[in-house]
Amino acid sequence: MNTTTTESSVQELPLAFIRQRHLVRAINFSYVDQLVRSIKRVGVKAFPLAVTPDGTLFGGNHRFEAFSRIGVEKCWVHVYQPESIDREAVELNEASEQSLPMNFTDHAEMVWRKVKAGQTQQQVAVELGWTRERVRDYAALQKIASEAWSLIGATFQFVAPSTDEQSAPMFGAAAPFTEGLLRSIIPLTPDQQLELVSELASGKIQKSRFTKLAKDYRARNDASTWVRQQLAGTSMVDRCLAEVAKGIYDAEWQANQGPGQKLKQLVDTIREEWERKNSVTLIHGDFYERVRDVGDDSVDLILTDPPYNVANERVFKFEGRSDISQDFGEWDKFDPEVFIALFDTWAKEFHRILAENGSGYVFTSDRYISHLREALERAGLTFRATLVWHKTNPGTQVVKTNFKSAVEYILFFTKGGTGHTFNWQGENEMHNFIETPICGGSERLVDAKKETLHPTQKPLSVLKHLLEVSSHPGDLCFDGFMGVGSTARAARDMGRKFIGIEQDAAFFEAAQRRMSDV
Ligand SMILES: C[S@@+](CC[C@H](N)C(=O)[O-])C[C@H]1O[C@@H](n2cnc3c(N)ncnc32)[C@H](O)[C@@H]1O
Repeated sequence: MNTTTTESSVQELPLAFIRQRHLVRAINFSYVDQLVRSIKRVGVKAFPLAVTPDGTLFGGNHRFEAFSRIGVEKCWVHVYQPESIDREAVELNEASEQSLPMNFTDHAEMVWRKVKAGQTQQQVAVELGWTRERVRDYAALQKIASEAWSLIGATFQFVAPSTDEQSAPMFGAAAPFTEGLLRSIIPLTPDQQLELVSELASGKIQKSRFTKLAKDYRARNDASTWVRQQLAGTSMVDRCLAEVAKGIYDAEWQANQGPGQKLKQLVDTIREEWERKNSVTLIHGDFYERVRDVGDDSVDLILTDPPYNVANERVFKFEGRSDISQDFGEWDKFDPEVFIALFDTWAKEFHRILAENGSGYVFTSDRYISHLREALERAGLTFRATLVWHKTNPGTQVVKTNFKSAVEYILFFTKGGTGHTFNWQGENEMHNFIETPICGGSERLVDAKKETLHPTQKPLSVLKHLLEVSSHPGDLCFDGFMGVGSTARAARDMGRKFIGIEQDAAFFEAAQRRMSDV
């Protein structure tokens, strides 16, 4: 085969046309392994050989070995006129290891070896007659990942001898790297370094694009570090990093030399979402003591279901069926006067913790409605409505001499005049009458014996309706008598924050378990 040549013209030739000369330097097979990986990654074109017009290889023995191993049929070659070949060939084949032409990668590796052998950068500088800064810059290049570094080295293999490491390599397209250019990728991750180096080596991008991308990646990495700090302790870091990785905040970060408005807003939105979903505080203790832990004006919505004082010890027993009992437990038994006196304490605390324009709902029985309403008003709260919850499937009426008790009452109040949250849902939906079955099915919690765990567990549907009307996502909801945590669960399902108190250990643990299943 004949090749028409001009000095250093690049051509594609069959590998079979190329003949290897006698080798002065032994083949380094681990370097060939690295080359095989790099060639597979960026393609053959990034690894040209140097040949004479008759196909004699005088530059690129390692690449030739790698091509042969991969089974490359055609490769790219620089074809040299005999005059220039003689010079290159003599230099390459007759030079000793020490006097081979050096580019900045050789210089850098020499510095690394000396530092590894124990010399300080200052000692290396003195020995070589270089400035300390020059040694430091070469040492810093060791932060470039080894795979990217091998690729850079491969593009330099046959660059003309030069003592100036900043000068453009002789085979410009094949060896585009300079020390200054590479300094820009030192802070990048190994993957980012390899990506940019591969793209430049294979000619997919030019130097200007390389520099721009390196700058963008640096901004992105700094932004990612900032995001990690801001969202530390939440489970939202990856979600935010995925947004930053899209590159949409690079320019803003560069312009501000730090986080800008858009990025701060993203972090705030994500943090708020996390807080909404995760801010649930369950307190095991006595309402009258622990409510003091709740800050003044801190709660947006009180939704609470205190004792009704309607329990009695009468239990109806039936053969083969569960007992019918109105005995809810000691927590629901008070002397009526003592019970009524408690309302002022509830009302005062509700007024204290409720934010201006906050709302409240308290479940109660018909017997105490007016006492409770008066206590709320005495505390300075604004009474708004009495809601009736009709239970479509109340327990069986044993003695058939009276109406069946099928309703419970909910007093609605606000703190302040107008301005409370009220998400009107339509004429039919906003009747002061809610109709649902009592809590049942899988929603009803049971104990180890599969018996009802809490006698007055409220259905989520009723609680969610009230949350929907009187709060927004992210608002803080409070229940001072939370039982097995029905309000907590409803609030969390709806993206509201929650704080609740329950004195009974078994109910409290059930509430905790219920929140951890979410
Ligand atoms: C009507 S139940 C609430 C049921 C709750 N809505 C549910 O769905 O599970 C009232 C709860 O208040 C609790 N309780 C009564 N007095 C309390 C107090 N002083 N401090 C904290 N919790 C109390 C009782 O143990 C009971 O679980």
